[in-house]
Amino acid sequence: MSIRKIGSAVFTLCLVLSPGSILAQEGSPAGSVPPEVLKARRQRLLAELNGAPAILSSAGPRGDYAQDSDYREDNAFFYLTGLEAPGGWLVLNGGGGEAEVLYLPPRAPAAERWTGPQMGPGPEAGALTGITEVRSAEALEEDLPLWLGGQGGGEEAGSNSPYGSFGDPRFREALASLLPEGASAIRPLAPLMARLRLVKDAEELERLRAAVEITCEAHRELWRVADPGTAEYELEAALEYVFKIHGAERVGFPSIVGSGPNSVILHYDKNRRSLEAGDLVVVDIGAEYGYYTADVTRTFPANGQFSPRQKALYELVLGAWAAGLEMIRPGSTMADVNRSVRDFLETRSGDLCGGTSCAPFLIHGVSHWLGMDVHDVGENRTPFVAGMVLTLEPGLYLPEEALGIRVEDDILVTETGHEVLSDALPRSTEEIEAVMKEAPIWVNSGFKD
Ligand code: GLY
Repeated sequence: MSIRKIGSAVFTLCLVLSPGSILAQEGSPAGSVPPEVLKARRQRLLAELNGAPAILSSAGPRGDYAQDSDYREDNAFFYLTGLEAPGGWLVLNGGGGEAEVLYLPPRAPAAERWTGPQMGPGPEAGALTGITEVRSAEALEEDLPLWLGGQGGGEEAGSNSPYGSFGDPRFREALASLLPEGASAIRPLAPLMARLRLVKDAEELERLRAAVEITCEAHRELWRVADPGTAEYELEAALEYVFKIHGAERVGFPSIVGSGPNSVILHYDKNRRSLEAGDLVVVDIGAEYGYYTADVTRTFPANGQFSPRQKALYELVLGAWAAGLEMIRPGSTMADVNRSVRDFLETRSGDLCGGTSCAPFLIHGVSHWLGMDVHDVGENRTPFVAGMVLTLEPGLYLPEEALGIRVEDDILVTETGHEVLSDALPRSTEEIEAVMKEAPIWVNSGFKD
């Protein structure tokens, strides 16, 4: 297939499969990312590119049905442009210069009868992104040899191969076909983006704080409405209602509401069982606000009161949590946090798990990065520096007792140590029991008589 034909195929794919509107986050509860913030992010990426070009595509179209209100932009594309732009492309550093060019599909009046007005190439996109050069996506094919600079054969070919990031794998193939003969293979941009995204800027932290705050309020409301007999899916509905009315546009991951035997299943998200007196309920949830997700877990007793054994095991987990938290400071790593949690369980379990420690009943690592994804990008061995955000989530899972416990918080690394972003959500058994006695605030009917 000729370059022109393949280029047209890319363009056609975007237009035909995704006539959805092209929007910034304008109008969303989180608002737009300020253009100066986007510019600073692109400058940081440019500094990492070492003269090579980077080509990024938007997320792929979801299907041929002309309704795509839940279109979620590719993280790398959104991080650098702040746009939701199906069919859009971003080229940085084209030709070894400092160029930034945004390519957007031209407006399509017939499609707009279905989807509403689109933002086409033009000054509006420039103002929102701070990118002065905005062109029609139809021009990408023609521009590509220019952006690839020394590529296209000869002695210099391969010395400066382009980086690529593709919100849809189909775009990778399409772009690879467009490269001039002799051009070297596309290098993944992902490791560079991951390094950038590991340290959050102020705008990202603001969004994360909002996501965490909404998530914490959803937990509180769950405790208020839960009773023996309440279905896990009712709790899921209640918490996601709290998410939405506070401006979270979606969940960061499927909500986990696991009672009794389901509390020991780490990613239980069917949420079909009804709570029974004596159950512990593990609720692991995260509101996504402005493309950033929280991830907060609490465990509560279905009947409003921890039994003595549940309380003892729960407090062991809280001790492990505190031991892990102490390790979160600049210079240490997730491995240090894990070691500290396990050491605590090894030495402080008493006879709670028979003659041996409870450590074998913690069956997962206790941290992951958090940000635009719930398991956010970044190398797990990276030493902590201020601005990183990770989870701390010790737990114990005893299937023979149908008893699972997990306590998870979102932690910002600071210059001097850490800040627990979800600290406002109670963690102690007494505080949880007290909130469970409160009347619901947001969900007013359908739960308690
Ligand atoms: N909160 C779900 C997870 O960390 O996998």
